[in-house]
Amino acid sequence: MSIGKSLPHDAAPLHVTGQARYIDDIPLPSDALHLAFGLSTVAHGDITDIDLTAVRAAEGVVAVMTAADFTEVPDCSPSLGDEPLLATGTVHFVGQPVFLVIATSHLAARKAARLGKITYRERPALLTVDDALAANSRFENGPVIWTKGDPVRAIDSAPHSVDGSFEVGGQEHFYLEGQVAACLPQEGGDMVVLSSTQHPTEIQHKVAHALHLPMSGVRVEVRRMGGGFGGKESQGNWLAVACAVAARATGKPCKMRYDRDDDMVITGKRHDLRILYRAGFDDTGKLTGVEFTHLFRCGWSMDLSLPVADRAMLHADNCYLLPAVRIESHRLKTNTTSATAFRGFGGPQGMIGIERVMDHVAHALRLDPLAVRRANFYRAMSETAGGPSAPPHPPESISAKVKVEPEADLTSRGRAASVGSHALPPDGAVQTTPFQMPVEDFIGHELTAELEHTSDYQSRRAAIAAWNAKSPILKRGIALTPVKFGISFTLTHLNQAGALVHVYQDGSVVLNHGGTEMGQGLFQKVAQVTASVFGLDASAVKITATDTAKVPNTSATAASSGSDLNGMAAQAAATTIRDRMAAFIAEKHQVAPETVRFKDGMVRVAGEEYDFPRVAAWAYQARVSLSSTGFYATPKITWDRLRGQGRPFLYFAYGAAVTEVVIDTLTGENRILRADLLHDTGASLNPALDIGQIEGAYVQGAGWLTTEELVWDAKGRLTTHAPSTYKIPACSDRPPVFNVSLWGKGNREDTVGKSKAVGEPPFMLGISALYALSDAVAACGDGSVYPALDAPATAERVLAAVGRVRNHG
Ligand code: MTE
Ligand code: MOS
Repeated sequence: MSIGKSLPHDAAPLHVTGQARYIDDIPLPSDALHLAFGLSTVAHGDITDIDLTAVRAAEGVVAVMTAADFTEVPDCSPSLGDEPLLATGTVHFVGQPVFLVIATSHLAARKAARLGKITYRERPALLTVDDALAANSRFENGPVIWTKGDPVRAIDSAPHSVDGSFEVGGQEHFYLEGQVAACLPQEGGDMVVLSSTQHPTEIQHKVAHALHLPMSGVRVEVRRMGGGFGGKESQGNWLAVACAVAARATGKPCKMRYDRDDDMVITGKRHDLRILYRAGFDDTGKLTGVEFTHLFRCGWSMDLSLPVADRAMLHADNCYLLPAVRIESHRLKTNTTSATAFRGFGGPQGMIGIERVMDHVAHALRLDPLAVRRANFYRAMSETAGGPSAPPHPPESISAKVKVEPEADLTSRGRAASVGSHALPPDGAVQTTPFQMPVEDFIGHELTAELEHTSDYQSRRAAIAAWNAKSPILKRGIALTPVKFGISFTLTHLNQAGALVHVYQDGSVVLNHGGTEMGQGLFQKVAQVTASVFGLDASAVKITATDTAKVPNTSATAASSGSDLNGMAAQAAATTIRDRMAAFIAEKHQVAPETVRFKDGMVRVAGEEYDFPRVAAWAYQARVSLSSTGFYATPKITWDRLRGQGRPFLYFAYGAAVTEVVIDTLTGENRILRADLLHDTGASLNPALDIGQIEGAYVQGAGWLTTEELVWDAKGRLTTHAPSTYKIPACSDRPPVFNVSLWGKGNREDTVGKSKAVGEPPFMLGISALYALSDAVAACGDGSVYPALDAPATAERVLAAVGRVRNHG
């Protein structure tokens, strides 16, 4: 069986030898043209004049386009239709494309793009959460509010309470391969698009719309991305659409690649936000009620902000059974780049809020934060009463005020908003999330206990306290935080996938499916699944580029669902072919098809053994079809986005992490000393790839909360737009002691090979780094002042927090 094997990434040799082809490596015809955008230099203003004389005169420039060149400016938005390719009279953020240069080389296009003279009548710019709140600038009429029980009463009548407000920074994706696309005009006006995108169907849809073609006139191909991390769900639309209109206008192949600085200025990032909280609790730290307000800074356009903010609400509970809760979510519109999908898709922002509450409560009670977390965990599976699907409350008990927002793109996660509010009664026999989904698969107790043991948490905590008592300058801290992450797209219809499998007459196999490869190892996993059906080695399966002409109507490779969805679809396709081969060979041998075995590259039937190619050749000669599509739609899920209730997720993926840090109290500098991760991948399809995902996700999560700081100046200009000023973790920043284990128990849901999705959930293991830092800072005081660390906990913020706890000490 190929499933479950620790095979390396299929393209690993190509990656490390530089042979892996990315779009910029693909040779284009010699007459290909290159594009660059001229960008807005103000955050908000009306364009009063555009002087492009110098741009047009620049060397190598073939044409220049502005909004005035279109009767209808093509739209690049994945949701609302609010992203014109080129600014139409008003600019909304620094970096917005205003004009498009088409030139004979990449460098010529970029140089010329700097020569535009645009005059603006500046308008007041809303740059911050406070600006947007004061102006009531938002994407919906008001906040989305979910309530369960009576949190106000629960908090007010509790023996203790805490409240606070904290800032959580955004994050630049920093995919190693920047955004890039190329368009190759075909006969009859059709277009072939190469795009570095997680969402080929969306690119197809946007290009077709821009060119007034049916989707059948556009074919999009994606062999691989050099990283996406959510930043290539929607942000590639601009480049593909620009190339398409330029290729249509010139009749030549056109390519566009953002230079790194432009990429960082133009494209959306993880949403930053402010979280306000108030919690009531008893002497053991068990919460009686909690209230959250999420103030999301969404930027100038809607993009995917509504489902991102929804997912934050959906993860505001993390692993904790909240008896009474109110979550209020504001999606604020500002004159900054439009925040977008980033690994976790709002989940990390939701989860970090309740982890802050746990940390704060433990500090207030002077308890071990792990004990407080545990006191609040969902009950273990065996403790939960009631049938698996018994709804805890009749639908009548739910009051909902809803309003439907305009809808645009059916294939995008950005569609439709859950505007309004609903109230749920408190928990009955079945424990539910704040959105009324029963939690039936909670393994947090066992998983945490195991990690507590393997990481030596308790004795290290004691050792750290002893060490800190003798160390005035350096202080250590430790934290264990858990993760529960919901798997499925919250827009239910996106939970589908298709695949196409061929067996050739020589027994070789070609695999195609709707997922895209961005380094996560999806292609190898799906190849392993396919090979297993035929009893072949994964290496016998040829992995091919994602292609909208082979598998149509695909969803973005996102929400960690790539292997869940495409693995099932490929398995279905391969099974159809295998069953046909089995029926054929069984008939030849006068036995029942069920008795035919495909194993170790051989086909066993009626005591005979033939190699797979031989059977394929016979089947071909007998005119048996050796090609099939496969399809999968996730079962069981229902989600009423407008009411904010149902079962949006097929299952949850779990994990926990222990991080130990040290801080320098004179400078705020800090370092991760050790990380122990235990993560639930179900029955892993490929443990090696999964461990890679978990390690990478943890480091990326810790980076988000420590060194990665985005800074905008008072004019709305991003000042951290290059690796010189924006600090992602380097190899040397990974924990020197880094223990990663898999919680290998099979998924109780019927997923491919009983595996669990792994792409995003371990990102949130990085949250333990922030609370380890909080623990280290707390060790500087007498315990009377809570560190209240904002994120990212840069050296400056750590130093400031040390000052806070000391001055009151
Ligand atoms: N891993 C690598 N190496 N590169 C990436 O861009 N993206 C992450 C995650 N892991 C990413 C990655 C994100 S945001 C998602 S949603 C998943 O991979 C998508 O792939 P999957 O659904 O196949 O897990
Ligand atoms: Mo991942 S943020 O769902 O692309």
